[in-house]
Amino acid sequence: MPAETHVVEAHGARIPLIGLGTWDLRGRTCARIVEQALRLGYRHIDTAEMYDNEREVGEGLRGSGVKRDEVFLTTKVWPSHFSPRELERSAKESLVRLRVTAVDLLLLHWPNPQIPLSETLPALCKLKRMGLARHIGVSNFTVALIEEAVKIAEEPLVCDQVEMHVFLDQSKVVAACRQRGMATVAYSPIARGGVKNDQVLARIGKTHGKSAAQVSLRFLVQQGVVVIPRTSRVERLSENLEIFDFELTAAEMGEIAQLSHRDGRIVDYAYSGSPKWD
Ligand SMILES: NC(=O)c1ccc[n+]([C@@H]2O[C@H](COP(=O)([O-])OP(=O)(O)OC[C@H]3O[C@@H](n4cnc5c(N)ncnc54)[C@H](OP(=O)(O)O)[C@@H]3O)[C@@H](O)[C@H]2O)c1
Repeated sequence: MPAETHVVEAHGARIPLIGLGTWDLRGRTCARIVEQALRLGYRHIDTAEMYDNEREVGEGLRGSGVKRDEVFLTTKVWPSHFSPRELERSAKESLVRLRVTAVDLLLLHWPNPQIPLSETLPALCKLKRMGLARHIGVSNFTVALIEEAVKIAEEPLVCDQVEMHVFLDQSKVVAACRQRGMATVAYSPIARGGVKNDQVLARIGKTHGKSAAQVSLRFLVQQGVVVIPRTSRVERLSENLEIFDFELTAAEMGEIAQLSHRDGRIVDYAYSGSPKWD
């Protein structure tokens, strides 16, 4: 079955289970990888205002020849632009850079405790009603923040995009999302390449004829979690996509779940006033 047919549904959004992450992809490399990914069958691209590559993502999209309405395109607004006026300006500028009339999903990139959600969320909902985004959601929200956000938002929030991989258990966030009909989108799903040398994943992969990276992605999609691995290499685009033709057993799923540990987080999460956002 082609990868594009594997989707999760959340409040009317049909989110392909695998997407291409684009953080840190720049210039020609970014445009070329996006174009290649779409040619290979990816139908979901993740970018952000902060990645400084929306122009190149748009270029890759157009260069691929894949129709705009066949691609699920996500971008994110940076937290310093969460006041209602800034939010609208930021989203409109993203659309201009991407050269699209609307994105499929617009996310708040990180919580910003300096601007109340009661200001930002109604503004985000308004952008959806204005047609700038087909769906809206959040990123890096804790369970408590999801709860707060859902209470305020008058339009459905379709996902929380959080760091999630075999070394970081996010079952509480996944459960909170599921309870509210939201999808969980896993960023850094291959732990920034860290899964590559894991012995357990390699051994399990061997029995399925798959790599450790493929097993780590399969572990997430088999739970209904969307993954957005990034690569700058064309050969790895196919590798990361080929995760729908095998199934991990319950015992293998259990064994992989044991790999998570307390300091498994890679991306600095703490909002301290000068966070290392990315
Ligand atoms: N919402 C947020 O706050 C947030 C934060 C971080 C990331 N994200 C999103 O999530 C996406 C993915 O996360 P990420 O970029 O942090 O990390 P990632 O996708 O887990 O890992 C990317 C790294 O893994 C390597 N890699 C890719 N495929 C591989 C494979 N099959 N085997 C071995 N190594 C492989 C890549 O190197 P090569 O290029 O050499 O292949 C790259 O160095 C980002 O690009 C971004 O779109 C969102």
